[in-house]
Amino acid sequence: MFTLSQLHDYAELCILMRMLCASTSHLLSLAGLAPADLGGMLDTAADLKADRALHDRALGGRAVLMHFTKPSTRTRLSFEAAIARLGGHPVFASADQLQLGRGEPIRDTARVISRYAAAIVVRTHAHADVEEFARWSSVPVINALTDTHHPCQALADLLTVRERFGALAGLEVAYVGDGNNVAHSLIEACALAGMHVRVACPEGYRPLPAVAEAAVAVALRTGGSVTITGDPVAAVTGACAVYTDVFVSMGEDDRRAQKLADLALYRVDDALMALARPDAVFLHCLPAHRGEEVTESVLEGPQSAVFDQAENRLHTAAAVLLRLAAS
Ligand code: CP
Ligand code: NVA
Repeated sequence: MFTLSQLHDYAELCILMRMLCASTSHLLSLAGLAPADLGGMLDTAADLKADRALHDRALGGRAVLMHFTKPSTRTRLSFEAAIARLGGHPVFASADQLQLGRGEPIRDTARVISRYAAAIVVRTHAHADVEEFARWSSVPVINALTDTHHPCQALADLLTVRERFGALAGLEVAYVGDGNNVAHSLIEACALAGMHVRVACPEGYRPLPAVAEAAVAVALRTGGSVTITGDPVAAVTGACAVYTDVFVSMGEDDRRAQKLADLALYRVDDALMALARPDAVFLHCLPAHRGEEVTESVLEGPQSAVFDQAENRLHTAAAVLLRLAAS
């Protein structure tokens, strides 16, 4: 006879064994990647960008399911274009179009979609929900943004920096503002690439300690470093890229006034940009809120690389799909 708690432990063990034995690779965050995986992904993206016909039948007409519970311009459209680019068929379904919105569990939804699609691309709030998709899906699950991670964005960010400055190892990158999902994935990506990332956030808005500590451990192996500071000047001085993101993320509108007040000194303006290397680029995942996290003059200025960055979402999305979902 088993107790209920033993049965629960046994069920968890079975799930863990399934995950360990499964050959399916997912992209939920960059934390589990090896440096070579990241480099390979960026190389693939660069190849796909250079030759628009390369691998154009890789998905063989198969469907890729896109399930988003938050709005999106770049991620949704770049993935839809990337799926078409690789000869696949994008199918978009918001929560209210799926039985998921009426309470069907993720575990059932994921197993059903796995029978139809080559991959599942998910944007939602709780990171645990994409983990639950991955736990039950037999096809790759790709995180298109959760409240804590945005790995596909960070791939495009690094491709953009690499295009401007060449080899990534040793480059210095500053992130200024809210230590949010975009910051987490950037930190993880920079650590994997052996870069020096300096993140300036006020108290209460720093990246999650678990993310920062894991990235520090990775950076120790790759020759990079991760610095968390309260001082935007210290973060930006000498950097080759200065990055910020919105101060109020999706789902945080009830905290809007407080966040804008707390983060006001972390706006990227011309004076802050002037402390970076003269050839530094300004990066922003977009959408931008001019006058909040960045001034109009920086966003529209000659150092801004934000539209190259946005374009690179397409090429990195195609690289992710090619490496995870093409047979
Ligand atoms: N950068 C980014 O993820 O943009 P969207 O919210 O428009 O997808
Ligand atoms: N931090 C932002 C990123 C949007 C692409 C958000 O989560 O809304």
